Parts: sequence; structure tokens; C-alpha cells
Amino acid sequence: MKLKTNITKMVGEVAVPGDKSISHRSIMLGVMAHGTTVINNFLLAEDCLETVILFKTLGAEIEVDSETATVTIKGGGLQSLTQPNEDLYVGNSGTTMRLGLGVLSGVPFMTRFKGDDSLTKRPMERVMAPLREMMAITFAENGGDTPPIIMLGTSRLRGRTHKMTIASAQVKSAILLAGLSATGETVVEELEKTRNHTEQMIRQFGGELTVSGKTIRLMGPQVLTGTTVVVPGDISSAAYFIAAGILIKDSELTLPNVGLNPTRTGILDVLKTMGAQYDIKNKTDGPEPRGTISVTTSELKGTTIEGEIIPTLIDELPIIALLATQAKGKTIIKDASELKVKETNRIDLTAQELNKMGAKVTPTEDGLIIEGPTPLKGAHVSSHGDHRLGMMLAIAALLVKEGDVELENVDSIRVSYPSFIEDLSNLIEGK
Ligand code: S3P
Repeated sequence: MKLKTNITKMVGEVAVPGDKSISHRSIMLGVMAHGTTVINNFLLAEDCLETVILFKTLGAEIEVDSETATVTIKGGGLQSLTQPNEDLYVGNSGTTMRLGLGVLSGVPFMTRFKGDDSLTKRPMERVMAPLREMMAITFAENGGDTPPIIMLGTSRLRGRTHKMTIASAQVKSAILLAGLSATGETVVEELEKTRNHTEQMIRQFGGELTVSGKTIRLMGPQVLTGTTVVVPGDISSAAYFIAAGILIKDSELTLPNVGLNPTRTGILDVLKTMGAQYDIKNKTDGPEPRGTISVTTSELKGTTIEGEIIPTLIDELPIIALLATQAKGKTIIKDASELKVKETNRIDLTAQELNKMGAKVTPTEDGLIIEGPTPLKGAHVSSHGDHRLGMMLAIAALLVKEGDVELENVDSIRVSYPSFIEDLSNLIEGK
């Protein structure tokens, strides 16, 4: 697809769709709970629909109203699920597979999880090892780390203490979801604090757990009760428009109803350090705060991003790299080796694709070094099937003054934001 280039002004408002992490979890907890769960502003994108399909295949009663982005679940608890007579194909969605393995570790039947080419290369032992300690039988068919994965769950799951060796919300969540069906105490000691939507939502569904620093404790088994979930806008999707508003001359963008859970807002802290001008209004309180973000064109300076902030902006690092190409001085990103095992190797491919456009980005073992500012030029680039690379490159194209930008594999954006290109065009045309 030929992308829009050479944009001088972006003014307007865009309501980004619902949060991907919260949408996945609301389906899983709604199925585990007893009674009706209604999910408003559900993310109707491929990834979250994979979670819906998976649980429907297991017999769950889930109704999706695409017109209103509302999902209704008639939850009957895990006991109401039945062994499927087909494989569980989850497409590109690592969250569906990892959290789904956690949920199904507590159900006494066998399932076989499969994914697309990208997911078939992603590590799963990080989830299987703790679930095995809790007495589930689970292994990769190839004897290694990657899908297809067999899960033989059990009604005799045992609570255990897990000391995490990587910072991963998906692994933590798989363990906690398993812990809800296990007998005894499940403890997760995090390496770094990661997004805490699972903890917040277990409470919202009437479950109990305690959080003290980086340690989470949950006594099982627990019975959850259906509830109403209102999903906030996804800050990881908002990040692309925030970047556009900052980087494009004479811009002013407003993003209402964006989720501002502090375990997700690292990008806002980094932008402040880099000198970006933004403002947050109408902020609500509560476990999943939300607010309206407004951004205006800003001059940026380079910075160093490392340590405990990394998990709070892990999905934003490609777009932060683009912001850094336009900042004065050097930006160093460290402690982010997890980027290598995302939908693609985001360290290598962020550098490779931005460099095709004239940026100076050096990949390192655990991050990136970016020299700025560099003008960007037309090039033939690719998302490599990675939605976040695709969206970052579409924003990069807007800055190009000379030449065309052709983006290969634009369809991958559908994984998390099907109307992204349309929403972006509307802002450019001032609709
Ligand atoms: C997610 C956690 C992160 C993130 C992913 C969604 C989640 O993955 O990159 O997009 O919903 O828990 P890891 O836990 O593997 O870091």
C-alpha cells in the first residue's frame, strides 16, 4: 500500500478502540465466572476475536454485537467447558495462547494449541514450566519451546510459589488464572512490575488476591461472579497518534477515553523527559483510570530508557524509536531484550525498516541506539506481519518530504486496530 507522506498539519480528535489486554482478559474471566458478563467497548480486532473463538469452541456462550462493540457472556464456570474435537487455532495472538493455557490448565481435558507462522516461533516454555509445577501436563509437540502446544489440564491443580526470571505480564497472568482453579496458595514474585490488568479484573469479578510490592498472592480455588466491564481506549494504539501530533508541524490532537493504568503509561513519562507537550484532562480514578490526552507539536531531545520502566512501555518501543529519530541527540534503549520475541524481532526490524527511510538506528543485544534528528525519505518498507511495526511505519511516512513510501503487508494492522488507516486519514483530511 502507498502511504500518505509529507503531511504538514494534523488537527482533530480520535477515539481509539478498546484496550487489547483488557479485552482478552474480560472474555477469559467472563467465561470462568458464574452469571452474565457484559463487556462494553470490546476491541473488535483479530487478536481478541481469537480469544472469543477459542472459548466458543470449548462451548462457552458468548455473543458479540459488532455494531455496538458489546460482548455478552453467559458464564457457567470452567466446569461448563467441554473438550473440543478440533485444534485450538489462535492466529497471531500470543496473549490468547499464553493466558488460554493458564485457564485450561485447570480443566480436566486435553487441548492442542496452534498459531500462525509468527506465533509458531514464539517461546511458550515460560508459561508451560510454571503450569507443570502446578501439576498440569503440558509440552510442545516438537519437544522444544514453540507451538503446537499440548495441554492436559487437571482438576487437581496445586498452588505454588513462582519466582519470575523475566518481566512478563502474560506469564504472570497465566499463573494467576491457573491459581484461581488450584488448591492452596499461588504466589508470583515478579522480576519487574508488569501490567496489572489481570489482578485488577480478578477483583472486579469478585475474586481475592493481595499485592505487596512485586509479590502477588492468591488462595484457590475461587468462584468468580459475572460483572460489567467497560474497556478503556488502548494507550498502545493511542501512542501512534500521540507521536503524530508531536512530530508533525502545527498539530493538535485530542484522544478521549484513553486507559491510563500506571503500569501502561511509561510512554508518557518518557515523552515528558524528551520535552513533549501534552496534557491530560477528565482523568477518572479507580483500578483502570482513563482520561483525555491532548498533544501539540513539540521539539524533542534524546534520552535513555532502561530498567523498571521498560515493561510499562514494552509495546511502544517501535514508535518511541521513531520519535527518537526526530529528537535532538542520542536516545538509548536498554534492558529490552524481550522485544526480540514479540510478533517479530522488534529490535532488528525497527532498526532495519527505519534505516531504509534514512534514520540512524543501531540494534544492540537488548535495545536500540538512535541518533537524531534525521530527515526521513521515501522507501519500500514492510510490517513483516507485525501490527505495531506497520502502524509505526505509517506514522513515519507522514514525515517524509521526498519520495513515496510503499508499505508491504499493511493488513497485519488488523490484529489490534482494524480502522487505523481510516482513522489516520480522517485526521489528515480534517474530518
Ligand atoms: C501483554 C503483555 C506483554 C505485551 C503484549 C500483551 C498482555 O507481553 O507485549 O502485547 O496482555 O499481558 P509479555 O507479557 O510477553 O511481555
